[in-house]
Amino acid sequence: MSELQARAIAHANIALAKYWGKADEKLNLPAVPSVSITLAPLATHTHVRFDPKLESDRFLLGGKAAQPEETARVTKLLDRVRALAGLRLRAKVTSSNDFPTASGLASSASGFAALAAAARAAAGLPFDRSAISALARASSVSAARSAVAGFGELPLAGKAGDRLAARMIAPPDHWPLRIVVAVTTEGRKPVGSTGGMQHTARTSPYYASWVAAAPRLCAQIRAGILARDLPAVGTAMEHSTLAMHACAMAAAPAVVYFRPATLAALETVRTLREGKTCVPVWATADAGPHIKALCHVRDVKRVEAALRKTAGVLRTIVCEPGAGVELIP
Ligand code: DP6
Repeated sequence: MSELQARAIAHANIALAKYWGKADEKLNLPAVPSVSITLAPLATHTHVRFDPKLESDRFLLGGKAAQPEETARVTKLLDRVRALAGLRLRAKVTSSNDFPTASGLASSASGFAALAAAARAAAGLPFDRSAISALARASSVSAARSAVAGFGELPLAGKAGDRLAARMIAPPDHWPLRIVVAVTTEGRKPVGSTGGMQHTARTSPYYASWVAAAPRLCAQIRAGILARDLPAVGTAMEHSTLAMHACAMAAAPAVVYFRPATLAALETVRTLREGKTCVPVWATADAGPHIKALCHVRDVKRVEAALRKTAGVLRTIVCEPGAGVELIP
């Protein structure tokens, strides 16, 4: 690609051990460690072109001019890249998601990972996965994990501070797991994750307990992934999910992402697992109403069929461990 422009693709990711809460709001550092799977095929494509003719950054999302607050978040990332590269030019950013935006399907994660990679490359900075991850993390913590392939983790910052980046635990072919997304709405979520977690941290009486409990769940999930122990991973994942949501629901006023269809899909997963069928499947949900079911590839048809029949589930998307962020020629 010619100078001052670059294109990148990044996939969404789903946290198995949830991030919810910030240790440092200014540096955007997480209060808890997290573990995730990067999800093919849910992808964001982003093109960045620095252009001497532009007076301000422009951001097109899905073919339309983005909201001013979305453009402001993009400009913040671009400002970091401009500072690193000694560049003053404004940029045009064109981005498209192949899945619903801002509805709890982690579009900000793939979006900021793709933007970080494309912006660095367009500014002439080398492809450095860790630097891309840290740059994406400064905009949105979960985006750090979309930089890495397969099974990834984002530890606590410790000495890394603002260089905190995700790292791969195991590559995509480590374990043939599937995530079946039960889509329950195509609309935008009412409370974004940033606002939701900040409000939770300030007002939920359970927040301190959540922060104290999360590292142990995260360690169990990490060890379970390495040992390919699905019941261990699934049990701790469901626990992490429900603990996060319980903590948010106890905020004042409550932050409730669940809808009737969310609970119905959760019930479907638990019945599949605990009923006569005994399918090894566990559920998770992010800051949105969708349920994502984790299972082995051999059980995916049964899980998909059961979720499709669930009241309020509009459609399902089957995902698998995917690639980390990449530049596209
Ligand atoms: C529930 O990464 O979107 O999806 O850092 O404020 O941008 P910011 O938050 P964000 O939060 C994601 C929360 C979550 C859990 C997770 O992905 O770990």
